[in-house]
Amino acid sequence: MAADQRGKAATLALRRRLLSNSCRLFFPEDPIKIVRGQGQYMYDEQGAEYIDCINNVAHVGHCHPLVVRAAHEQNQVLNTNSRYLHDNIVDYAQRLSETLPEKLCVFYFLNSGSEANDLALRLARQYTGHWDVVVLDHAYHGHLSSLIDISPYKFRDLDGQKEWVHVAPLPDTYRGPYREDHPNPAVAYASEVKRVVSSAQEKGRKIAAFFAESLPSVGGQIIPPAGYFPEVAGHIRRAGGVFVADEIQVGFGRVGKHFWAFQLQGEDFVPDIVTMGKSIGNGHPVACVATTQAVARAFEATGVEYFNTFGGSPVSCAVGLAVLDVLEKEQLQAHAACVGSFLMELLGQQKAKHPILGDIRGVGLFIGVDLIKDEATRMPATEEADYVVSRLKENYILLSTDGPGRNVLKFKPPMCFSLDNARYVVAKLDAILTDMEEKVRSCETLRLHS
Ligand SMILES: Cc1ncc(COP(=O)(O)O)c(C=O)c1O
Repeated sequence: MAADQRGKAATLALRRRLLSNSCRLFFPEDPIKIVRGQGQYMYDEQGAEYIDCINNVAHVGHCHPLVVRAAHEQNQVLNTNSRYLHDNIVDYAQRLSETLPEKLCVFYFLNSGSEANDLALRLARQYTGHWDVVVLDHAYHGHLSSLIDISPYKFRDLDGQKEWVHVAPLPDTYRGPYREDHPNPAVAYASEVKRVVSSAQEKGRKIAAFFAESLPSVGGQIIPPAGYFPEVAGHIRRAGGVFVADEIQVGFGRVGKHFWAFQLQGEDFVPDIVTMGKSIGNGHPVACVATTQAVARAFEATGVEYFNTFGGSPVSCAVGLAVLDVLEKEQLQAHAACVGSFLMELLGQQKAKHPILGDIRGVGLFIGVDLIKDEATRMPATEEADYVVSRLKENYILLSTDGPGRNVLKFKPPMCFSLDNARYVVAKLDAILTDMEEKVRSCETLRLHS
């Protein structure tokens, strides 16, 4: 039977029988069966069209024809490993280098964000001769054992924090210890990293790296105050460590103003290692690590070969090149800046109307809407966020939540998300919130009168 002729219930039953329950579904009570994607839209088996507000992997749009064609054409000619000379891999490294600061000029190609972060960890340890890692609270950096260890979002539910991992507070100026009224939150949050480093050093530990997403997404679509990364990098480098910017969710023009999200931190700020994934291949498994000559030379000095069977294959590189071509041709970075600020403006107008909208933060097409119980406590409105997401789904809009309180609606749509999509989604959100407030009011009235 063709897979798209199978009914949703039959697919679900098979999945329950054959796949682990650890592999979760969106909307587990009523999962969606998606059979087709195009641009910023996904279609279920009945042909219903959903607006995809969350898939930052389908960066230039689901199934972009130029990306699909690039993969197909290269697949017809050759797909092999990177031990042969091939133009795609060098052309791709060259094109990526043109987007990055000059110092980040050595490239490794891999298949997933997790592989990229794991290699970054190896590079950092080899270069520094140190072992320990400082991470931000609530961070997620991947599913390999090494990365679960540096992902508080995961290890807090497992066997806890390893002695070589040190956690600094999220630079969250909305809910963290230093807020929007602090005179210099960048320095204050960076001092927290310094404190964490000093306390590790007092125990005889040595710092190899600081890992952070350039914009912490799992942490709740956080925008670190500008200047925070350079300050942190100073503390980390003085301790002998390197700065790793995880751009897996937020790179490739998503932030609009810049191609890389770390560039929001200041024109002169250059991480020692940058990791890329997800959007880099528009759905094809591609990932990359970019670093400096110095770090790469230290890694080479071991004499041990770095080999990755699929990483940097002619097909992966053809796909990566096509993604860069589409970004340029369709001017998607500028588009993200324009649509993102329009969406922020529309959401901002809603804030005046709906007290549950505590904070609206974002840059380009990376936006978080922080739902709160009340302004005084800023307590996360977790159940309400969940309810809003399920009502949006009934309206064929796919959105999800993030953050430690699972109360932040996260927008990170394919970059072709349009002004019309923004208008439509915000109008639906407005209607759902109005209806929700109405229901709460009638319950309160009932309670008063009973
Ligand atoms: C910030 C970040 N880093 C790393 C990863 C791991 O990437 P992958 O799932 O491709 O291994 C993820 C995945 O969600 C991520 O969000």
